[in-house]
Amino acid sequence: MKFFSRRRVQSWASVRHEVDSAVRFAARRSGSSVDVGDLAFTLAKNVTFMAAFGAQSHGNQGEFAGILLEYSKLFGEFNISDFLPWLRWMDLQGIDKRLKVARQAIDRCIDDHLANPKEADAQDADMVDGMLAFLGDSGDTNEGGDLHGDLSLTRANIKAIIMDVMFGGTETVALGIEWAMAELLKSPEELKRTQQELASVVGLHRKVDDSDVDKLPYLKCAVKEMLRLHPPLPLLQHQATQDCELARYFIPVGTRVFVNAWGIDAWKSPNAFRPSRFAPGGDAAAFDFRGSCFELLPFGSGRRSCPGMQLGLYALELAVAQLLHRFDWSLPAGTKPGDLDMGDVFGLTAPKAVRLMAVPTPRLTCPPL
Ligand code: HEM
Repeated sequence: MKFFSRRRVQSWASVRHEVDSAVRFAARRSGSSVDVGDLAFTLAKNVTFMAAFGAQSHGNQGEFAGILLEYSKLFGEFNISDFLPWLRWMDLQGIDKRLKVARQAIDRCIDDHLANPKEADAQDADMVDGMLAFLGDSGDTNEGGDLHGDLSLTRANIKAIIMDVMFGGTETVALGIEWAMAELLKSPEELKRTQQELASVVGLHRKVDDSDVDKLPYLKCAVKEMLRLHPPLPLLQHQATQDCELARYFIPVGTRVFVNAWGIDAWKSPNAFRPSRFAPGGDAAAFDFRGSCFELLPFGSGRRSCPGMQLGLYALELAVAQLLHRFDWSLPAGTKPGDLDMGDVFGLTAPKAVRLMAVPTPRLTCPPL
């Protein structure tokens, strides 16, 4: 299913729009400290919202941010009924009630889309329209149909995918932007090289355009190196579809297997941020990160690999390119690159433990956007 393919013009346009908004925000804060993590989160949240729900639900962006926040809290909540299931009916902490309220918002979104149906192929169709084409039309919207060969979705499936996208799309892109900026600020030589490439390919008289990004090989290496060092979803969760043997361990069918993408040991100086390893002539130049090289799996691999990879990469590369091209970045007074805290937080995703604060100074000769 190509929910996030280039044909969904609106998702791609929203990336450009949101990157421009982020640049405008940074320009207004020029000379003062900006919370780069916050900036990246707002950008990524709006991009995901448009990809998933399109213009149809534009008015509900605040609600979307609220649900994201609520689910993040609920995921981390200690639920006594998980340990004492016979207490579940009492819902002592009110967790089930909160989950129900959050789920209702997603139900409303599906109902809105059902009330205003669009062809899945229409240019203004969004992900939910795309999925509804796979829903049975028997009138019982909880039953999956068989409209497209083997594939059918139930309403519960669709709700689960919406949740996957909300989390899969937002934090990953946001963390990627923040980590890339943090690594580059920590390595002034790498920052200089990336900005020099931008200056010579794009020039200092205009902003970065879509078509420029493919002509920025070093910037792409820097993003790839960030994804190697800080895969935003480090634990890939899969399930064995047949009995198999791996490294002399027997893995029975149905076993849930976690692959630690971050822990794959295939690198020289694994902890160093060294984008040139991926540049032509570099020791890792041949490594791809789209799922075919098992050494580098920031987007996973196989049938359950990330369906939003193209969109995520596009957002990540364009945002980093624009931010580095439009501004010179420095650390707040008194902070040296070596002082940057590069620790992360253990969890489903791998956010920076301490948000990156940095000071933008305009770099281009053209007026602000
Ligand atoms: C740099 C950005 C991104 C990274 C690094 C990333 C990474 C991943 C990874 C590692 C997985 C699990 C794959 C596996 O287990 O093999 C995944 C799944 C997923 N991602 Fe992404 N992702 C990104 C952006 C996005 C975006 C922008 C969207 C949607 C707007 C998205 C939607 C999803 C969904 C729906 C899944 C679940 C797929 C399934 O369960 O079959 N991701 N992503």
